[in-house]
Amino acid sequence: MERLMLAVQYNAYDGGANALQHVEVPIPSPNKDEILIKMEAASINPLDWKIQKRILWPILPAKFPYIPCMDVAGEVMEVGRGVTKFKVGDKVVGLMSPFSGGGLAEFAVIKESVTASRPPEISASECAGLPIAGITALQALSQTIGIKLDGSGERKNILVTAASGGVGHYAVQLAKLGNTHVTATCGARNIEFVKSLGADEVIDYKTAEGAALKSPSGKKYDAVIHCANEFPWSIFETNLSMNGKVVDLSPTLGSVMNFALKKLTFPKKQLVPLLLLPKGGDLQYLVDLVKQGKIRTVIDSKYPITKAKDAWARCIDGHATGKIIFEF
Ligand SMILES: NC(=O)c1ccc[n+]([C@@H]2O[C@H](COP(=O)([O-])OP(=O)(O)OC[C@H]3O[C@@H](n4cnc5c(N)ncnc54)[C@H](OP(=O)(O)O)[C@@H]3O)[C@@H](O)[C@H]2O)c1
Repeated sequence: MERLMLAVQYNAYDGGANALQHVEVPIPSPNKDEILIKMEAASINPLDWKIQKRILWPILPAKFPYIPCMDVAGEVMEVGRGVTKFKVGDKVVGLMSPFSGGGLAEFAVIKESVTASRPPEISASECAGLPIAGITALQALSQTIGIKLDGSGERKNILVTAASGGVGHYAVQLAKLGNTHVTATCGARNIEFVKSLGADEVIDYKTAEGAALKSPSGKKYDAVIHCANEFPWSIFETNLSMNGKVVDLSPTLGSVMNFALKKLTFPKKQLVPLLLLPKGGDLQYLVDLVKQGKIRTVIDSKYPITKAKDAWARCIDGHATGKIIFEF
C-alpha cells in the first residue's frame, strides 16, 4: 500500500493564500541521482507566490496540482542508486527544482547536485533560509560583481536595496566579508537591524534621500544589488561610479531590453539581469560560512505547515525582516 504524507498544494493559477489546500499525497520516491528527505524546515520566497501569479507562465508550474516551495532542510531517508555524497541519516539542506516543486510537504525529493551537508550545530530553520536567497546574494556579489569574499579584492562601494529582506540581509553580510563599503536601504523600523548586519550607511527608503538612493557620505556606487522593486534607470545612473553595475534581481522586459541596448552601445554603466543558478557548491559554501559564524540567517517568523496560508500571505505582503520559515 502506498504511504501517504501531508502536503499543501494549489490546483490552478492565482487565488493567493486562499487557494492553498491541505491534502494527503503519496510520499515521492527518489530517482537515481536524488535523495528523499524527511522535512524539518522549509523557507518561502517571493518566487513561490510569483509562480502562482503566472510570472513564469506557461512554463511553470509544469502541471497542477503543484506543491510549492523549493528551499528545504531535513534528514536523508533514502538515496537513489547513483548518489555518492549522502547516506541515510545525514542532515542536509537543498534547493528543489521549480519544475517539480514539492517543499511544502512532510517528505521531499532533492537532486544530489543541489544538496549540501548540514552540521549538527546549525538548525534546520537557519539552513532552510539559505538556498534561494543566499545563493542569489552570493552569485550577485561574487560572480556578477567580482567581490572576493576573502577581502583580498580592491575596495568597492556597494549599495544593497531592500537590505532587510531575505536576499538583502544575506547580501549585506556577504558584501562585508569582501573589501567593501556598504550602503543599504530599508524602512525606518529596520535601520538598526541592517546596521547590525554590517552596513556602513543606511537610508530609509521612504525619505527623499531614499527615493534618490543617495549615499549619505556622497559615495558613488561601483555596484548595486537591487533587491527592491523596479526603479528608474536615471536614478541609478546618477549614483553609479564610471563602471558601475546594477544587478537587477527582478528584471522586467523593459530592463532586459535596456540591458541589451546598453550592451550594444558599450556604455560603462550597466543594468545586469540576474537569475540564480542552482549550485550545490555555492550552497555548501554558505552553510560553511554560517558554521564559521561569518553570516547568519535572520528569521522573520516561523509557521507550522498547518498555517501555510498565513505564511504565504506574509510573503506576498512583502514586509518580512529576514526569512519566513516553516517548521515541520
Ligand atoms: N533573480 C533571481 O534569481 C532572484 C532570486 C531571489 C529573489 N529574487 C527577487 O528579489 C526580490 C527580493 O527578494 P527577497 O526574498 O529579499 O524579498 P523579501 O524578503 O520579501 O523582501 C522584503 C523586504 O523588502 C523591504 N522593502 C520592500 N520595498 C522596499 C524598497 N523600495 N526599498 C527598501 N526596502 C524595501 C521590506 O521592508 P519594509 O517592510 O520596511 O517595507 C522587507 O523588509 C524579490 O523580487 C524576488 O522575487 C530574484
